[in-house]
Amino acid sequence: MCGIIAYTGSRQAAPILLAGLRDLEYRGYDSAGVALLPESGGEPAVAKRRGKIAELDAAIGAEPLPPARTGIGHTRWATHGAPSDANAHPHTGSGNDVVIVHNGIVENYAALRAELSERGHAFESETDTETIAHLLEEALDSGNDLLAAMRETCARLAGSQAIVALTSREPGVAVGARIGHAGAVVVGYGEGEMLLSSDLAALLPHTRDVAFLADRQLVRIDERGATYETLDGSAAAEVEPRTVSLDPASADKGAYDTYMLKEIMEQPAALADTFGGLMTVEPARLTLDDLGEARPWLERVERVLLVGMGTSLHAAMVGRWYFEQIARLPADTDNASEFRYREPVLGPETLVVSVSQSGETVDVLEAMNVARASGAPQITICNTPGSQTTRVADGAVHTYAGLERGVASSKTFTTSIAALFALALETARVRGRISDDELARHVRDLAAMPEIVGRQLESFDGIAKAADRFRTTQHILFLGRGPALPIALEGALKMKELSYVHAEGYAAGEMKHGPIALIDPTFPTVALAGQHALRSKIVSNIEQIRARDGEVLAIVTEGDDELIALANEALTVPPVPALLEPLAAIVPLQVLAYATADARGCDIDQPRNLAKTVTVE
Ligand code: F6R
Repeated sequence: MCGIIAYTGSRQAAPILLAGLRDLEYRGYDSAGVALLPESGGEPAVAKRRGKIAELDAAIGAEPLPPARTGIGHTRWATHGAPSDANAHPHTGSGNDVVIVHNGIVENYAALRAELSERGHAFESETDTETIAHLLEEALDSGNDLLAAMRETCARLAGSQAIVALTSREPGVAVGARIGHAGAVVVGYGEGEMLLSSDLAALLPHTRDVAFLADRQLVRIDERGATYETLDGSAAAEVEPRTVSLDPASADKGAYDTYMLKEIMEQPAALADTFGGLMTVEPARLTLDDLGEARPWLERVERVLLVGMGTSLHAAMVGRWYFEQIARLPADTDNASEFRYREPVLGPETLVVSVSQSGETVDVLEAMNVARASGAPQITICNTPGSQTTRVADGAVHTYAGLERGVASSKTFTTSIAALFALALETARVRGRISDDELARHVRDLAAMPEIVGRQLESFDGIAKAADRFRTTQHILFLGRGPALPIALEGALKMKELSYVHAEGYAAGEMKHGPIALIDPTFPTVALAGQHALRSKIVSNIEQIRARDGEVLAIVTEGDDELIALANEALTVPPVPALLEPLAAIVPLQVLAYATADARGCDIDQPRNLAKTVTVE
């Protein structure tokens, strides 16, 4: 959470920082700020405002900043201290010549603040972050340079942090630090300029040559390049920039009103690119080239445990189905935040598969640490090359969805499912569970999905009507069975986070065990009733709801006239093979949530209280 950007080089820093903040706004939008080291020397110039970047733009328009070629910026998702001008980053120490931005939580900030106050430091905000600025100031005052001062400061902080700092004592220099899983610090290598950011997205307009800080690493940048150290003061090993293939154009909204709509519509291309990265049709071959040291474990393990959070957890639930059905391996899923605290029983017999589009979600990373300590081999499904999950795991299956900017995930959900399908196929292949012909059939089936999803996205028949119905509703129940259960959960998640309508995803078989008490004419149900989603059982659920005057919107297979007649309304999905039905079934639910949110006037790309990458617990 929180977006960070820093620039040093030959260009004016302010426009680069402000553009970077707009690219990072999905990380948090409670407040935004920048600090610049003026070319004329002197203290950093700071501008910060509560609210979105537009408020900061207006403030800078009214009171322009001095020319500067070095600066930092921040967009905040509030943890300690309400959103306000004073609590906005950047924060300074007492003497105003040190300025920092921060992502994470200083868990011992109360004790540090008391200690610093006793030594005469005056605080201007309620944030935990400000203690870092004061500690850094003290470390500089005792004769350290900025890099050494940052190292000394980090040693005092409890919890996970990503920090970037400037001081007027070292013009043209910025220092970054990463401790734990508070979020990435990505170093961007430009021509005669260097950048730091919490995300690739803000760097891509300037460079594709990047390096990710590892846990407990520090970096010092000036216009000539970067030097790296570890927190114990030794030179960091092997920090080489890599060239990422992401297209900066994918960071634009293009002709669409929102990133979310663009990303929903990009799913055919994202699926085709992911397919192309992981397999070929002719000959039918899997090309999972990044499994690394995890590869031999595919043959040896006795079970698979898939972990993730939110939408990625729902993709993992579809993945469980694949491992069981295709590879015939016992498989289970777990919410990463629950898994890590449960002292789970596992070892080298269990393959842990984490799913995370960002590769930086703190609960997933902590779960991976638990898995590693238990000796379990790990593979991550990830959309961000170089991110932390790809460094911690023994191997990776990359998705090729391109940058996802809408806070609510869409194309990374469907591409994660495609990647899990590929991994289950590879597991089945090496374990001799699948014949060449079966493999070829599955590969052909997945190859057909981009076009099928593309056709689904050409027509939104019926969705506007359903969205208009849901515009005024307070609650919606989403029911699914088998592979449709994760889709019911994901449909409900999309509905609540985009439109703020209370939506519950439920296993359809569970309905009679409680939720049915809620059914009345004001409480509609969305029933996932595709041909493979244990249709006959769902028919009974629909009958039971209708018998209680409940309204049903059914998601049915094209041509299923019986169900279309039984439900109040129906949205159709094309017939596809059973294992791939989740990919088709989620599409109308994504569009439905979008259209409902649009009809209710919600801020679709930046739903309230949310941030794209969750790096605090
Ligand atoms: C919901 C959504 C979140 C993320 C979750 C995990 O639309 O986007 O639920 O899926 O925060 O994020 P990643 O996949 O980055 O680990």
